[in-house]
Amino acid sequence: MDVVIVADAAEVAERAADQIAAVILRRPDAVLGVATGSSPIGTYNALAERVRSGVLDFSRAGAFALDEYAGIDLRHPESYHEVIRRTVTEPLGLDPARVHVPDGSAADLTAAGEEYERLILAAGGVELQLLGIGANGHIGFNEPTSSFGSRTRQKTLAPQTRADNARFFDSADEVPVHCITQGLGTILDARELLLVAQGESKAEAVAAMIEGPLASVCPASALQLHRNATVVIDRAAASKLR
Ligand code: F6R
Repeated sequence: MDVVIVADAAEVAERAADQIAAVILRRPDAVLGVATGSSPIGTYNALAERVRSGVLDFSRAGAFALDEYAGIDLRHPESYHEVIRRTVTEPLGLDPARVHVPDGSAADLTAAGEEYERLILAAGGVELQLLGIGANGHIGFNEPTSSFGSRTRQKTLAPQTRADNARFFDSADEVPVHCITQGLGTILDARELLLVAQGESKAEAVAAMIEGPLASVCPASALQLHRNATVVIDRAAASKLR
């Protein structure tokens, strides 16, 4: 695992954008794995800036989101369908037909998970997967004790994740209880992993991911198994590394 420690969130965004830009310049039709949440927003903004200045073109690229809330109205502003449209598809100029988000509105989430896996395979797999990390060490919505071999499936959100994500909703009760998420096995299949984290609230999880044992209590420790994983963090997120 390559660990890159930079000064602040702005540098995290530029460094991560450089790595994604390198993939798109090498392969304009690359399939990217995209995350929601606040961590990658600076990276998306940095990429959008490069699109506006004509340096990058995502019009032939594809994207697969990591996860979606279960049972949420897909038009809800905080559904990941909407978040990905607002923060990735439109600002980067991706073709919406090539952007996929797991179907959290499906009556049969097991079948929806299997279908998502098929779609990823049919697209040739993910070239680079961008990730954030939860304060409890989750990636995607693979909460602690998720299997390292797991595939896209339904999960129950940990109480801490629901509390952390309450900031996006009008009230804590509104945060869905269940979700559909790519599994750790799905994520590990991407040819390149790029995890970004900023701020002290992530420092403990970051230390467990990098220096802790490979253990399902810290799902992000799965990155230790990947041959091409990069972690880009600011000094605050790195503050609990030994
Ligand atoms: C989002 C996702 C989550 C977030 C994590 C961190 O698609 O899968 O793993 O990356 O919860 O969220 P933020 O960035 O909001 O702190």
